[in-house]
Amino acid sequence: MGEEIIVWCDDDTGVCVANAYCPHLGADLGPDVGGCVRDGRLVCPFHGFEYDTGGQCVATPFGPAPKAARLRVYETREIAGLIFAWWGLGGRQPQWHLPPDELDRAGWSNHHIWISHFPGHPQETTENSVDLVHLSHVHGYDSVSRVDPLEIDGAFLRSRFDFCTTRRIAKVARMRLDVAANALIYGLGYSFVEIRERSIGLDMRMWILATPIDGEVIELSIVSQTGPVHSPSRKFAGLAFLPVRLRAPIVNKFMAYFQKRDVLQDVPIWSTKQYRRRPRLSRTEGEIGQYRAYCAQFYADALTAAECEATVADQPAAN
Ligand code: FES
Ligand SMILES: [Fe+2]
Repeated sequence: MGEEIIVWCDDDTGVCVANAYCPHLGADLGPDVGGCVRDGRLVCPFHGFEYDTGGQCVATPFGPAPKAARLRVYETREIAGLIFAWWGLGGRQPQWHLPPDELDRAGWSNHHIWISHFPGHPQETTENSVDLVHLSHVHGYDSVSRVDPLEIDGAFLRSRFDFCTTRRIAKVARMRLDVAANALIYGLGYSFVEIRERSIGLDMRMWILATPIDGEVIELSIVSQTGPVHSPSRKFAGLAFLPVRLRAPIVNKFMAYFQKRDVLQDVPIWSTKQYRRRPRLSRTEGEIGQYRAYCAQFYADALTAAECEATVADQPAAN
């Protein structure tokens, strides 16, 4: 969002995401310049002001801490070890909240995180979760089918769909995956997909997180995690020789490779496409119109919202 931020934590549970410049005389608090964390406090490299994870200056090396020396902090939420921070236009308070962290962690692998940068927009990357036609055309999935109608409740949107895909392993073996996907979206930029792979018997999670950087480029983070693999199917029989705790991390690396391949197929399209305010959709693509209407709530500009609604209302009657 065009701002430098700094993130640190103390030894308890405090995490702070703040503007990276010191309110004293403006030094960059980042580690490259010499900012450091000492006893859970962020210490400025210039005159040594110390900040707690609430953003308040609590000590200086030469006198009482000025009360007004306070970092601009962003509200944070931790989910499965990932830190999210709220950024609101003009400093707005959060307009919606991410879900509580109720995810089971026992036996799950660590996160595999892959980050890429390209020109794009969070609305466009998340639209993939409702645009089922592109799943077969771009990614080569087959048997793509919507399970339920889109569920929309305020800032929350759920899109459930099934698909199958055949993957080649080292150009010799083929593996057929039978997937049930449950995409849970909370506003622009946060997509969480629960994945059940039926033929191997895997549970996976994937976060697709788009952060706008400078008005043109986004940082897209793909985070994947695999659940405990207790009784691997015949295709993965080799895993049975490994202790259970080692299986999920191996499978996670393997599946993350496939996910990366899929995203790399999307990136050239995302990064070169034009935004169509009034997409000319086929009759079978009503979810895209619903999704656009859902997105309208996240724009401060009422005109933009009205235009998005008009997009839905003006759908052509036939393709
Ligand atoms: S600029 Fe940070 S302590 Fe002076
Ligand atoms: Fe895609």
